[in-house]
Amino acid sequence: MYQKYKTAQKHFWHPMGPSAPVAQKDTLIICRGDGNYVYDADDNKLLDGFGGLWNVNVGHNRTEVKQAINRQMDELAYYQTFDGIAHPRVYDLADRLIGMFAQEDMSRVLFSSGGSDAVETALKMARQYWVAAGEPNRTRFLSLKNGYHGVHVGGTSVGGISAYHFNHGPMLSGCHLLDSPWLYRNPWDCRDPAALTNLCIRQLEEQIAFLGPQTIAAFIAEPVQGAGGVIVPTPDYWKRVREVCDRHGILLIADEVVTGFGRSGSLLGSRGWGVAPDILCLAKAISAGYIPLGATVFNRRVAETIEQARGFANVVMHGYTYSGHPTACAAALAVLDIVERENLPENAGCVGRELLHKLQSLSDQFELVGEVRGKGLMIALDLVSDKRTRQPVDPMSGISARIADLTRINGVLVRPVGPKIVISPPLTINVSEANMIAEALHTALSDYR
Ligand SMILES: Cc1ncc(COP(=O)(O)O)c(C=O)c1O
Repeated sequence: MYQKYKTAQKHFWHPMGPSAPVAQKDTLIICRGDGNYVYDADDNKLLDGFGGLWNVNVGHNRTEVKQAINRQMDELAYYQTFDGIAHPRVYDLADRLIGMFAQEDMSRVLFSSGGSDAVETALKMARQYWVAAGEPNRTRFLSLKNGYHGVHVGGTSVGGISAYHFNHGPMLSGCHLLDSPWLYRNPWDCRDPAALTNLCIRQLEEQIAFLGPQTIAAFIAEPVQGAGGVIVPTPDYWKRVREVCDRHGILLIADEVVTGFGRSGSLLGSRGWGVAPDILCLAKAISAGYIPLGATVFNRRVAETIEQARGFANVVMHGYTYSGHPTACAAALAVLDIVERENLPENAGCVGRELLHKLQSLSDQFELVGEVRGKGLMIALDLVSDKRTRQPVDPMSGISARIADLTRINGVLVRPVGPKIVISPPLTINVSEANMIAEALHTALSDYR
């Protein structure tokens, strides 16, 4: 099987990796998936401890989703949604999302093809909101270091992981990064959650005062930072950010591309913090990897201001060929049925708590594991070269990739991300599968030592 792809693999650039086709003898080729497991080219069965890419939340090969896709393909595989044209599934899904997020006073949806699209749509429509509201100078964005908001120019510019900036500058002007409320590593060396919230909020207030609130369109952040290393904010952080945004009229955008639909233990990560954002960015779990789909959801404040604006400010000059793709919408409707019927956010909360508890014992046993943190079924092992100083292992050392390889030998897929090992299995896993993840990592770390 591998031999067959020897030439073909030279024609493909792996995203987020070296461009030259070097060392690809180790390429992992996944050939099929079933439930919480995938099978590689040698038919090794692997527990999908990363859920595809944080997205296969309902597991692989679900009959209901495949049937919904096939039914839709038979009926109407594709039609567009520009210029007053629609099809039943896009209305069904829009209706479903607005119903699910009634508590957040959500009111309108724009569909797209993935998370980067959903973020770009949010940023552009936030600016349009301010044009509609008669304050066109509000164009700036505030966001957090270690944040990840996809790879389009806007999302990269508000992103707080510098590796994504290096090759593609200059970034969009008017994007300003703040420190994230991260207890393990922050510039103040503050280990007290309430004090850290205060420090971060003071920095936010100072930045707003410096820039002038009348120039700021929105604050965007993830309810739990994912790609940055599963950084769980201090408990009162989001509520305090909402208060500051309200005081200055700034829109609050929650990038829920990873946390949306249950991964952090509540239907929305922001709901878990007791906060209703103005705009939600959704993708990944909405269609659980079966077909690409993104959605940006706007609350009544944003929707009514845009709709009631006079002149061109009420025209939505934004959309994609695949906005509201009928087959993707059909897949999403079937996925959301499963999420609700199987109460997956609750399962993520319960199984996630047990898994986190088990994994945290690794930091007592291994010098390499500085901290294990997480919320729901998004968990990270932070690998350090010095536990006392919390110095991360050199991201170029390949240590995290080696640990992930050893974990795979023990039948579990986890993802090395820089100096971290990240775990985000399907939300359908049970406690014994969670134990498999913990045991595989324990064995991998012992073998590495
Ligand atoms: C929080 C967040 N926003 C946006 C994105 C971008 O999504 P996509 O890769 O579907 O474009 C991601 C992807 O991991 C993400 O984690």
